[in-house]
Amino acid sequence: MAKPSLKNESKIAQAVRHSFTLTDNETGQSWEFPTLHGTIGPKVIDTRKLYSQTGVFTYDPGFASTASCTSDITYIDGDAGVLLHRGYAIDDLAKNTDYTDVCYLLLHGELPSPENKLEFDAEINQHTMLHEQLARFYSGFMRSAHPMAIMVGVVGALSAFYHDSTDITDPMQRMRAAHRLIAKMPTIGAYAYKYSLGQPFPQPSNKLTYSENLLRLMFSVPTTDYEINPVLARAMNQILILHADHEQNASTSTVRLAGSSAANPFACVAAGIASLWGPAHGGANEAVLNMLTEISTKDRIDKYIKKAQDPDDKFRLMGFGHRVYKNYDPRAEVLRNTCHEVLDELGIHDPTLDLAMELERIALSNDYFKEKRLYPNVDFYSGIILRALNFPTNMFTVLFAIGRTVGWIAHWKEMMESSESRIGRPRQLYTGSTKREFTSVANREHTDRKISWSWLWGGKKNGS
Ligand code: SDX
Repeated sequence: MAKPSLKNESKIAQAVRHSFTLTDNETGQSWEFPTLHGTIGPKVIDTRKLYSQTGVFTYDPGFASTASCTSDITYIDGDAGVLLHRGYAIDDLAKNTDYTDVCYLLLHGELPSPENKLEFDAEINQHTMLHEQLARFYSGFMRSAHPMAIMVGVVGALSAFYHDSTDITDPMQRMRAAHRLIAKMPTIGAYAYKYSLGQPFPQPSNKLTYSENLLRLMFSVPTTDYEINPVLARAMNQILILHADHEQNASTSTVRLAGSSAANPFACVAAGIASLWGPAHGGANEAVLNMLTEISTKDRIDKYIKKAQDPDDKFRLMGFGHRVYKNYDPRAEVLRNTCHEVLDELGIHDPTLDLAMELERIALSNDYFKEKRLYPNVDFYSGIILRALNFPTNMFTVLFAIGRTVGWIAHWKEMMESSESRIGRPRQLYTGSTKREFTSVANREHTDRKISWSWLWGGKKNGS
C-alpha cells in the first residue's frame, strides 16, 4: 500500500466539524463520534472506532447508508439527478469531449491541455495491441461462450504477461497498468466478438480515435475498407463517456475490495468485470433488450408493469430504478437523444424504440413507479443504440465494461495513493447455531434432506 500522504490525513482531519452522540438505551451508555464533511453531498459519521469503543457493529447489507472511502473522482446527487466527474457535469462531457479526455480527467483530476491530449492519446495508442500468445487464449473458449466470460478470463490473464506493471507499490507501474487496461479493452472485447463469428482478429489502428478504433475493430473485415460513420463514432464516444464512472457502484466497489488485499490491477479489474456482468448491474442493458423483445407489443406493456409491481413476482422492469438516482438518470437523458440521432442517421425505424418510449411513458405515470421513485437508468436506452450500431445483445455489457474500465482503474489508483485505505473486511450479525457438542457419524439421526443429488441433474445418475 502507498505511504500515507499528508494530504489524506489532513483531508480527513479538516473534514471533522461536529459529532453524533450514540446512546445505547439498553445500558444508558453514550458515545460521541465525529462527523466528517466533504465538499458537497451528505456528511458522514466517522464510525471507524465504533466497535472498539462500543462493542457493536452497524448493520447495512447492500451498504445503502455506508461511505466506504473518501473520493475526489465522481459525485452523484440521486435526488437532483446530478452526475459530476471531477466537478464537470456528465452532459457537458458527453457532448464536448473525447472519451480519452474523460480518461485523462478521471485519472489526473483535470481535463487535458492540447499538449496533454496529444501525449496521452499517443501513450494509449502504444498499448492497443494484444500479445500474440494472449490472442491464442481465445481458441480455448467455445465459439458460443458469452463474451463477458471471455473478458473475465482474458483480462485476468493480462497479469501473466505484463510483469512490468504489477508492482502496486510503484507509481510508474500503476500508471502503466492503467494505460494498458484502457488501451487494450477495445481490442480484447472486439476479439471476443470476432471469435464468436469465426472472423480473423483485426489489428488496432493508431490513425483513429478511440471510438473509431473500437468500431473498426468490431466491424471491419479484411476484404473491404471500413468506412467510419462520424455519427456512429460520436454515438460510440458518448456511450463510452456515459459509462466511464459512477462512484462506488457494485463493480467499482468490487475492484476496490480486491485491490485492498494488494492484488494486482489486472486481477482487480477482472473481478470488476465479473461483478458488472450481473443483470442487476451492467448486465441490465442486455436484459432490457431481452425484456423489450419479450413484451414485443404495446398492448402487453400493462401486463409487465403489473408484474413489476407485484411483490410476489420476482420480475423487475429492467432499465428502471437505481440505488442512488431517485430522479431521472442524467445519462439516460443524453442517451435518449442520441438514440433518436443514431436511428435518424441510419434511417432506421426501430419498433423497439417506439415500444421503449411507450413503456417509459406508461411507467412514469404509474403510481407504483412514482411512489418508489423509479426512473429509466443508463441501461434503458443504451441497448437500443447499441443494437442500432449492429452490436449483438450479448456484447452490450462488454461495451459497458470497456467504458467503465477507466473508472475502475481510477478508483483503484486513488485507493493505492490513499493513506486511509486498509484491507476491506466487513463483519456480520451472526444468526447461526451456538456452540454444540460433536457427535460421531454412528450417533447422528437421519434427516429427510435430499441425499440423492441426481435431482440436480434432472434425474441423470452422474451430473454432467
Ligand atoms: C447500473 O450503482 C450504480 O451506479 C450502477 C450503475 C453504474 O453506472 O454503475 O448506474 C449501472 O447498474 C444501473 C442499474 C441497472 N439495473 C437495472 O436496470 C435492473 C432493474 N433495476 C433494479 O433491479 C433495481 O432498481 C436496482 C438493482 C438497480 C436497485 O435496486 P434497489 O437498490 O433494491 O432499489 P431500491 O432500493 O431503490 O428499490 C426500492 C423499491 C423496492 O421495492 P420494496 O422493497 O421497497 O418493496 O423499488 C423496487 C424494489 O423492489 N424496485 C423495482 C425496480 N427497481 C426497484 N420494482 C420493479 N422494477 C424495478 N426495476
